[in-house]
Amino acid sequence: MPEKRIPANYTEMDLLEAKRFDKKVKENFMPAIVSTVKQIIEDYGVLEGVCVDVGCGTAVFAIELCKHSKLKIFALEKEKAIYEVARMNIEEAGLADRIIPVLGDAHKLPFENEFADFVISRGSYHCWKDKVQVFKEIYRILKKGGTALVGGGFGRYVTALLQLELDKRAI
Ligand SMILES: C[S@@+](CC[C@H](N)C(=O)[O-])C[C@H]1O[C@@H](n2cnc3c(N)ncnc32)[C@H](O)[C@@H]1O
Repeated sequence: MPEKRIPANYTEMDLLEAKRFDKKVKENFMPAIVSTVKQIIEDYGVLEGVCVDVGCGTAVFAIELCKHSKLKIFALEKEKAIYEVARMNIEEAGLADRIIPVLGDAHKLPFENEFADFVISRGSYHCWKDKVQVFKEIYRILKKGGTALVGGGFGRYVTALLQLELDKRAI
């Protein structure tokens, strides 16, 4: 029987679908996530302090970033089912002391002003209803001199060949 298609709309996911989404991310995108984290560390060198990952999904990216830094990461996700899987992944990775899952919306970040040294958001901005509002929120929670990185894609270590593969697997 063909596997039921995972809804592109994250808001439609129940826990089972969120777990299947997580499995697909791990199976298909892990090399790209690893190489993107490598590039971020090389280029931005933000290795310690407080990080907020906006739209963290199931926290696969946050876990990889955590393993290669001393950052304390607040992994924020809007969808309850996806947040639950993120929580499980963080526990399973033994990183619950360094990655704090947060259920919340990027449009109203539940953090005080100048909270974070580093704000990362990968693959989420295309979902934001009011991008200007989210950028204002990111700016608000960023410490003076802090770094914010918002984008999509997987960076320079993803070769053209791998990119073709990733495009085919796009979910
Ligand atoms: C493609 S996933 C990216 C996950 C992760 N950042 C990564 O790079 O693997 C996009 C995530 O952003 C979340 N998202 C979308 N809009 C959001 C919002 N307004 N606030 C918080 N999270 C949001 C979605 O629910 C989804 O889990």
